[in-house]
Amino acid sequence: MPDINQNEWKNKWNIEDIRRDFPLLQNTDYAYLDNAATSQKPTAVLDAVRDFYEKKNANPFRGLYPLSEAATEAYENARWIVKDFINAKSTEEIIFTRNASESLNLIAYSLGSVLFRPDDEIVVSIAEHHSNMLPWRQAAERAGAKIVYLECDENGAFTEEMLRAVLTDRTRLVAITQVSNVFGRKNDIKRFAEVCHEKDIVIVADGAQSVPHMAVDVQDLDVDFLAFSGHKMLAPDGIGVLYGKKKWLKKMPPFLSGGEMIESVTCDKVIYAELPHKFEAGTVNAGGAVGLGEAIRYIQRLGFDWIEEREQQLTALAYSRMKEIPGVHVFGSENPADHHGILTFTVDGVHPHDVSEILSASKIAVRAGHHCAQPLMQHLKVGSTTRVSLAFYNTEEEILRFTKALAQVRRNMGYGE
Ligand code: ALA
Repeated sequence: MPDINQNEWKNKWNIEDIRRDFPLLQNTDYAYLDNAATSQKPTAVLDAVRDFYEKKNANPFRGLYPLSEAATEAYENARWIVKDFINAKSTEEIIFTRNASESLNLIAYSLGSVLFRPDDEIVVSIAEHHSNMLPWRQAAERAGAKIVYLECDENGAFTEEMLRAVLTDRTRLVAITQVSNVFGRKNDIKRFAEVCHEKDIVIVADGAQSVPHMAVDVQDLDVDFLAFSGHKMLAPDGIGVLYGKKKWLKKMPPFLSGGEMIESVTCDKVIYAELPHKFEAGTVNAGGAVGLGEAIRYIQRLGFDWIEEREQQLTALAYSRMKEIPGVHVFGSENPADHHGILTFTVDGVHPHDVSEILSASKIAVRAGHHCAQPLMQHLKVGSTTRVSLAFYNTEEEILRFTKALAQVRRNMGYGE
């Protein structure tokens, strides 16, 4: 990335400089428009991971020699970077996991085992990715509790009134995404947290599609838990984060048991390690954590003001062009600012998989299917859809290539205008 003063960044911004930071973007002739599935990785992140393995690799926490100490320091330094990034109170509240799915499974299993009783109610939004739905369904089954679905309107929106209408004396927890991976719609998590806390209800937010694209401050939102993945925010695969308020994490039993998550073990008794290590059994993904730390530094150098503005401009361009194409229907709000880089659509008479393959023939990568949100697809009364999802490193030219190819899809399938 060019070394320039952040205040001047906005004016001096040059997309080609940014794109040169991403080797894959140089190595493909595809327009990569599947960023909600995973992001590309900048050289700075790839170099940081390589540097870790070339210079610091040993098993963190275990060895009393300089290499192991360096590995521990690199891993814990990444935890500090994450803590500051989401403004957690303490590094004890930052648990490294494999991804958002594992983070959500951890909460559902562990918190669920101490929180839920028979006939309790767990509110899950209908717009959840399966990752923030199935763990709660399993937890409900184990406890004899009940899942209550919070339904969205036709634009994918949830209001405070809609939330209040499903809360009862039996509600123990609300699980809801901050940004939908289908609509791109952002929920007012801060207000929802206030509503939940009025009634002593725990709120769990899925940040997989928000944390990579906007400033998220867990103290300001006052969520009890937030989960997100590194791979969607420029970091390597296999590293994710669970943020949890200390008061809850302290009460929760370990999710996985094994090495380095204990203080002491006898044949009769085990004393678990302090937070956050109680939840990090086995050899940790130190290289992944280092990569995540570097990815956050890269994002911070760009700044979320700039990232959000850039992604909003790209979204508005894509949305306006898509709306002009006969037979193309974009789901959700008519205001592109509500989409946060995610535009899910159908094309009359053409199966979403065919849409995706036709676009692929024009070297455009998008996702087709149910987007791991089958109950939402059923709610919308569609089997599947196609989704284009943008990142700051996409270009106007890529968007126009995409919309031009999309305009040809029905003709390719033998339809007239
Ligand atoms: N959760 C990712 C998506 O929505 C994989 O595409």
